[in-house]
Amino acid sequence: MLQLWRFSALGILLSLFSLVPGESWVDDPAEYVLSENRTRDSYDTLLWGPYRPNLYFGVRPRIPKSLMTGLLWAKVDSFQGVQNNFRHTCEQHEGMAGYGWDEYDVRHGGRQTIHDAGNSVDITTEFVKTPGPRGGTWAVRVKGTPREDAPARLMSTVLFYAGMEGFGSLSVQNQRDDSGILGSVVLEGSSNELRDFELKITEGPSTNLHPPPNHKSYEGKPLDRSMVASLQVPEGAMWQAKSLIFAQMKEEIDAMIALYGEDNPPPPWATFTIANDIKEGNMHVVQKVFEGSFEFDIIYSSAEGPTTITSDDLSEMIEDTSIQFGKRFKKLLAPRAPFNKSKYQDFAKSMFSNLVGGIGYFYGDSVVDKSYAPEYEEENEGFWQETAEARMRQGRVRLEGPSELYTSIPSRPFFPRGFLWDEGFHLIPVADWDMDLTLEIVRSWFNLMDEDGWIGREQILGQEARSKVPEEFQVQYPHYANPPTLFLIFESLIDKLQEKLSTEEKSIRSAYLQHPTIAIDYLRNLYPLLKRHYFWFRKTQWGDIKSYDREAFSTKEGYRWRGRDTRHILTSGLDDYPRAQPPHPGELHTDLISWMGMMTRSMRRIAETIGESDDASEFARYETAIVRNIDDLHWNKKEQTYCDATIDDYEESVHVCHKGYISIFPFLTGLLPPDSPRLKAILDLISDPEELWSDYGLRSLSKSDEFYGTDENYWRSPIWINMNYLAVKSLHDIAIRTGPHKSRATAIYTSLRKNLVDNVFNEWERTGFAWEQYDPETGAGQRTQHFTGWTSLVVKIMAMPDLSVEEAVVHGEL
Ligand SMILES: *[C@@H]1O[C@H](CO)[C@@H](O)[C@H](O)[C@H]1NC(C)=O
Ligand SMILES: *[C@@H]1O[C@H](CO)[C@@H](O)[C@H](O)[C@H]1NC(C)=O
Repeated sequence: MLQLWRFSALGILLSLFSLVPGESWVDDPAEYVLSENRTRDSYDTLLWGPYRPNLYFGVRPRIPKSLMTGLLWAKVDSFQGVQNNFRHTCEQHEGMAGYGWDEYDVRHGGRQTIHDAGNSVDITTEFVKTPGPRGGTWAVRVKGTPREDAPARLMSTVLFYAGMEGFGSLSVQNQRDDSGILGSVVLEGSSNELRDFELKITEGPSTNLHPPPNHKSYEGKPLDRSMVASLQVPEGAMWQAKSLIFAQMKEEIDAMIALYGEDNPPPPWATFTIANDIKEGNMHVVQKVFEGSFEFDIIYSSAEGPTTITSDDLSEMIEDTSIQFGKRFKKLLAPRAPFNKSKYQDFAKSMFSNLVGGIGYFYGDSVVDKSYAPEYEEENEGFWQETAEARMRQGRVRLEGPSELYTSIPSRPFFPRGFLWDEGFHLIPVADWDMDLTLEIVRSWFNLMDEDGWIGREQILGQEARSKVPEEFQVQYPHYANPPTLFLIFESLIDKLQEKLSTEEKSIRSAYLQHPTIAIDYLRNLYPLLKRHYFWFRKTQWGDIKSYDREAFSTKEGYRWRGRDTRHILTSGLDDYPRAQPPHPGELHTDLISWMGMMTRSMRRIAETIGESDDASEFARYETAIVRNIDDLHWNKKEQTYCDATIDDYEESVHVCHKGYISIFPFLTGLLPPDSPRLKAILDLISDPEELWSDYGLRSLSKSDEFYGTDENYWRSPIWINMNYLAVKSLHDIAIRTGPHKSRATAIYTSLRKNLVDNVFNEWERTGFAWEQYDPETGAGQRTQHFTGWTSLVVKIMAMPDLSVEEAVVHGEL
């Protein structure tokens, strides 16, 4: 329903626009947000970006079925293994010595460096954009520099493609020439949303060298020219550009071998080329072959201005973008002592830039099982077997959508799609940088909600996204939840609204903050969705207190994740953390009630901010009841920690205690006040090296737990940065308030902050990458490589204050 409404509303706006010639262009972005004329494509500095983060480089607009571009390259100095040299999608273990954005700002652009050791070349992509109607202009400078160990005469081939999905046109403006194009290649295109535009691929500076003409093939196909081939690609197949280009290349190779004979084939750099075949089509591929270092530009200009740019302009813009980025970074996210040194500065910039450089736009349908099976309610003992059978029996999985999503991602090579609970963490540093962008992303997520209030936890939209996920993991179930971390962002927004804003902060990033009325409007518009989502959680993830005569302040505030089986609760996010065995419908989960506490607090604050005072009192009542029930239902006196609860063989409610992240969840979610009588025990637990403390951060499971390091060992010892961030934040909040544990919290905060940052930094230096998790014994980064999602929270941790000076005395206490 909602989706339909949005698309038709957009349609109407678009058609209105075509009736209004020369609509006014608002210069001041804040004015723009205020203006009544905003539509998402008339003024939008967020329209264009490298929004295909699964590729090393691929620009597209935030428009479904529109212009798709991408870059490929390969070393072609021998025939051996050339096919494996072609880079396109980010892959782990592809011989990369690190890659990613050194600097990147979603509004202006930045610089990416790809240390392609396998191809003996460093590729940089310097991307810039200038705002204007229809998203304005963007350009990228592609450079290749042979690495130190490169062969003396490194031959590289580079391909750039642009394709128009859906309605619209795209054609090559140059005259067809069977021996290739000299000078720039110019594509012209048009679509309803983009209007007329031009895409120019320049020849590059005269310093570019090309392989020597030492074979007869050079006469037909001189390599100092660009090869251009046109393809007609069926709807929905554009993402398979690499295979399509390979197929084209193969035909050409076969033809050349036939022409010159197998005894005298052209050299590899001439062999691995596409045909010169300009014709009608919806995808056009431009290929260049270089010897040694190279450089060329790709420049997109909208016919509606502001102006087209030249390569000289581009040089200036690139420099300026870098300077502006540095200034803004220093102001907003500079590492604070003891990390105020240049090496941490570069590291922080890179981590942050990869987080925002990973933001993508996704569009497509998704696989959902919306069939109703009573077993899905997981109310019977043995439910986990029944649900599995019900799934097989139902088999009424269907494609829903299409929907769109604007989001950051956990990892470009491995998880290039939206994950609900990751996103709340991703946006924590982004909110400090660009609140308007943050709110745009939050809105995009809430627009995915169905009529009941459900949002799928993993957004695998379209075939391209599905191609990376095994089939059994593609299905989303509408009774499955995921931690509601986006509510952390509303708290951050409200905190910022309550802080006095310095005038310096006036810029496009904070129209919402500068004009609290717009922020309140935003919250008010989203509020019905937030409530729907909140009550969906209460309804579907409720836990049973009454049936088991549990004693608690409230008979309602207990919670249980749905979607568990014997080994996992994937929905909790902490997949294999030890839980009650066997699973039981009478379980109550510590982490979930804590998330509910955080979400309720956030809802209460939102209701207060927008003046919904009746609602605010209702949420306040829930909040009190949740906080009381956390103690009544989950605190275990003997173990001195919080524990899950289940029902034993005698039908009694009992605790299941596994010390680790879950047993400190009320603390992690900020639900323990500084004078809580439970706080001392929590601080003891996290600072004890025999339990959670390690030199590299807090372990997910206590070293003393029987399951420590066992089985999949995913959340059973490794150090995760998202949870550690929550610990640092909670410690900080206790350290800056008066209370009996102030100095202890300060000391732990100071050491934990240092351990975390040092280790992620050292591993980044050692391996060239950020990692999904870290080994608690050695600190080594492990599992997914290039995990620049929530591991980027180190940027936020570095930017937090150094409290050690004030409390130097207490260090001995740890
Ligand atoms: C909105 O559009 C109308 C009609 O084009 C124009 O007169 C008005 O000035 C615009 N308002 C702003 C704030 O740009
Ligand atoms: C880092 O910050 C500390 C505390 O503010 C200050 O004393 C020190 O001089 C700074 N170091 C550098 C290199 O700026």
